[in-house]
Amino acid sequence: MGNSTSSDPAAIARLGALVETALQTDVGRAIGTDADLAPFAAALRYPIAAGGKRLRPILLLATVEALGGDVEAALPSACALELIHTFSLVHDDLPALDDDSLRRGLPTTHIEFGEDVAILVGDGLFALAFRLIAEAAETPAEARLAVMSELAYATDGMVRGQYLDLRPVANPDEASLRRMCGLKTGCLIEAGVRMGLALVSADTQATTSYTALAAELGVGFQIVDDVLDATSTTDTLGKTAGADVANERNTFVTVLGLDEAQAAAERSWQTTERLLAALPGHPAALAAIAELVYHRDR
Ligand code: IPE
Ligand code: IPE
Ligand code: MG
Ligand code: MG
Ligand code: MG
Repeated sequence: MGNSTSSDPAAIARLGALVETALQTDVGRAIGTDADLAPFAAALRYPIAAGGKRLRPILLLATVEALGGDVEAALPSACALELIHTFSLVHDDLPALDDDSLRRGLPTTHIEFGEDVAILVGDGLFALAFRLIAEAAETPAEARLAVMSELAYATDGMVRGQYLDLRPVANPDEASLRRMCGLKTGCLIEAGVRMGLALVSADTQATTSYTALAAELGVGFQIVDDVLDATSTTDTLGKTAGADVANERNTFVTVLGLDEAQAAAERSWQTTERLLAALPGHPAALAAIAELVYHRDR
């Protein structure tokens, strides 16, 4: 870590535990108990229960905490963001997209339940996410609207980024990679911070500095993901290593080479450290998450 920002690594587990409990209770309730739909409810729960780092919802809670907001009241929004992220993974893994058979250490949803059901699981998680926020009665209606607007904006951006991944520009370079990754991955990472800012009605100064951090973190996250695809193992990742080369995807590694991709990750980390040092409030949990984004093995 840099000298200027204190980091609280224990906050990741603390906030992560809140997210896990809320995912089980709030999402479980929203999924419902209709007997004839029990197998579909199981399919909806499957990719969520498989786990994952929960980075985006933790980022949201850490932002709320940093600016003195109500962390408990932010849980429906945090769960909603994780549902959208999980939907994006279920569809990303489909045969028509990345055709992956392993996710979060388990067979992908389409392998387990069939492609038809996996498409519906993605659609269902998408809708449930917005329901969770709309029905969060403890949050004032105006804040709910602002949070939903951020989430819708980010989801749209993620989908556009996935399009650019599938139909890439002719001569990819670092700028076009940053553009594609800023959309496909950055948008939902940024949403963690931006939804948090909306919940606490942050002032302009906080909004500017926190969103700048979130934008760098979003791209940095995908650079590291690309590096890990090339350097880690399927066992460690819980998803298929080497998938990017197999799918002939343009990534920081396949376009720039591993050394340059690692250098880009290091530059992004240095930028992030500078941006962290400029944050108002109490961003110790946020600093720990930022550190995890760049220094992780899965
Ligand atoms: C994977 O995101 C998809 C990318 C944007 C690279 P994560 O690495 O956060 O996946 P989980 O949530 O931990 O499974
Ligand atoms: C996916 O990027 C980003 C999403 C919107 C899901 P990747 O295709 O690199 O994600 P992984 O490596 O499969 O998790
Ligand atoms: Mg993909
Ligand atoms: Mg993929
Ligand atoms: Mg990847």
